[in-house]
Amino acid sequence: MTVRLGDDAPDFTAETTEGKINLYEYLGDGWGVLFSHPRDFTPVCTTELGAVARLKPEFAKRNTKVIAVSVDPVESHEKWVSDIEEVNGVKMNYPIIGDEDHTVADLYDMIHPNASDTATVRSVFVIGPDKKVKLQITYPASTGRNFDEILRVIDSLQLTANHKVATPADWKFGEDVIIVPAVSDEEAKEKFPNGWDAKKPYLRFTKQPTP
Ligand code: BEZ
Repeated sequence: MTVRLGDDAPDFTAETTEGKINLYEYLGDGWGVLFSHPRDFTPVCTTELGAVARLKPEFAKRNTKVIAVSVDPVESHEKWVSDIEEVNGVKMNYPIIGDEDHTVADLYDMIHPNASDTATVRSVFVIGPDKKVKLQITYPASTGRNFDEILRVIDSLQLTANHKVATPADWKFGEDVIIVPAVSDEEAKEKFPNGWDAKKPYLRFTKQPTP
């Protein structure tokens, strides 16, 4: 199945290292990150799952729950967790789905046969409180992800969901944002009383509103 931005995130119920989980119930009214890795007991994956455990408080600050998935069984994940904890000096603190039958991988198109017939690629899906897909990115097995970047994107998604702004290249929380072109100067005067800096008529920077 192909999942695109704005689509409903496919719901599922799956066995995980924290018992049976239904995705929508797990996410509740908040945001979610569903991310896949190719295999247990592999080096890059070991660093990635530890990085996410370390950043869990940052995800929680953003009302965002994380859940990992690969096609290995839960029993394998459970054995691997002690390596993740030892190597990264963290306690695992979020569930890993055992997706041996590829239910989740197929729903989210996480197996790319020209990369690998059997293993999930490094997919990331950010899911909004409305259960729509807000972000989708895919990395190859050889490249570990930068999860600070995922947090940065969540900051942007949450801000732009509530205000008529967009975020420029390399934006970080607290930096100036762009008034979207659909907002006229008239409307902008009301919405952004502190004004803006127009680099071009279509490129108006303003202070970041409170999310
Ligand atoms: C890794 O996590 O290190 C990895 C997994 C599959 C292929 C290559 C690297």
